[in-house]
Amino acid sequence: MTSTDPRDSALVRAARGLPVPHTPVWFMRQAGRSLPEYRKVREGVPMLTACRTPELVTEITLQPVRRHGVDAAIFFSDIVVPLAAVGIDLDIVPGVGPVVASPVATRADLDRIPELTPEHVPDITESVRMLVRELGGTPLIGFAGAPFTLASYLVEGGPSRNHEKTKALMHGDPELWNALCARLAQISGEFLRVQAQAGASALQLFDSWAGALSLADYERFVQPHSAAALGAVADLDVPRIHFGVGTGELLAAMGAAGAEVVGVDFRIPLSEAVARTGGRYAVQGNLDPALLFAPWEPLARAVDEILESGRSAPGHIFNLGHGVLPSTDPDVLTRVVARVHERSAG
Ligand code: CP3
Repeated sequence: MTSTDPRDSALVRAARGLPVPHTPVWFMRQAGRSLPEYRKVREGVPMLTACRTPELVTEITLQPVRRHGVDAAIFFSDIVVPLAAVGIDLDIVPGVGPVVASPVATRADLDRIPELTPEHVPDITESVRMLVRELGGTPLIGFAGAPFTLASYLVEGGPSRNHEKTKALMHGDPELWNALCARLAQISGEFLRVQAQAGASALQLFDSWAGALSLADYERFVQPHSAAALGAVADLDVPRIHFGVGTGELLAAMGAAGAEVVGVDFRIPLSEAVARTGGRYAVQGNLDPALLFAPWEPLARAVDEILESGRSAPGHIFNLGHGVLPSTDPDVLTRVVARVHERSAG
């Protein structure tokens, strides 16, 4: 194996708890509206069209790698892409998020959602292959949405603060809930598998809204389905990152669902996340994305504290606690990457 093999990169090594030359760093939503070059290529192109056009996916995915020198690319797509690919009528509305034309409420609604096969997403395979060729030794992270977060969009019909219809279905008709999540786990698992088989070096399962659940509900209604999605790629020898927002109480259960790395938001220190997960997993995180708007001195101090806190983990991948906010100054992100590399080298 040569040093230009992405399987030997700092990101993959940190995910596996192996020694690294420096702490690897990438940012959730590093590709996107914070970059003028992104806004330029997206002009007049709807989000879902962009996600299904290999030349655009490749260009947008590479933009933050060129600009910031991050240690990984994240595949430019969206958690709802595989749902649209199997025929669910939805759109991504700017400033809002995914909006579903006919929300899921009954068994008949669920029965209209087919399983995902690689034939639904030939463009995803093509995009990943193009990217892997362009990226050389830089690893590509593939991703999918977890069943709960996807189910929330499908059941609520769009973004939701309280997830009330989702929780009503979960508790009111557990059989339908479990059948829906089993279907979504198949779709997510297959979407991850397609990306890994085309050459992605790591995978992230986004359960962004799982922090809305109690641990008891998470374990009973959600974890088995996330475990099924992660289990679909268990044989591929690609490290798996499991992330959610506000999931301090769920971290051990999220690791146990079948991840090598647990993603941590900014609400608890990494050392606390390590303690709560018994040191069994590498950790990813956890700079508050709003701190990128603070003056450099307190921001640099926060970066250094996170590096220090991450030393208690078997492996640490530096990231934000959630995605880059669209009005972030991209030069600050570049500076954070340099700081992470400089302070963690040697
Ligand atoms: O750089 C990356 O992180 C890769 C690209 C990526 C996008 N969406 C691109 C995107 C990833 C990993 C996602 C995942 C995603 N999508 C999640 C999980 C991650 C998280 O943020 O918790 C969720 C919940 C979604 C659903 C979604 N899609 C939302 C909430 C939004 C924002 C709506 C808005 O306009 O504010 C989207 C749209 C979206 N996905 C954009 C991007 C770059 C913005 C589209 C645009 O540029 O107009």
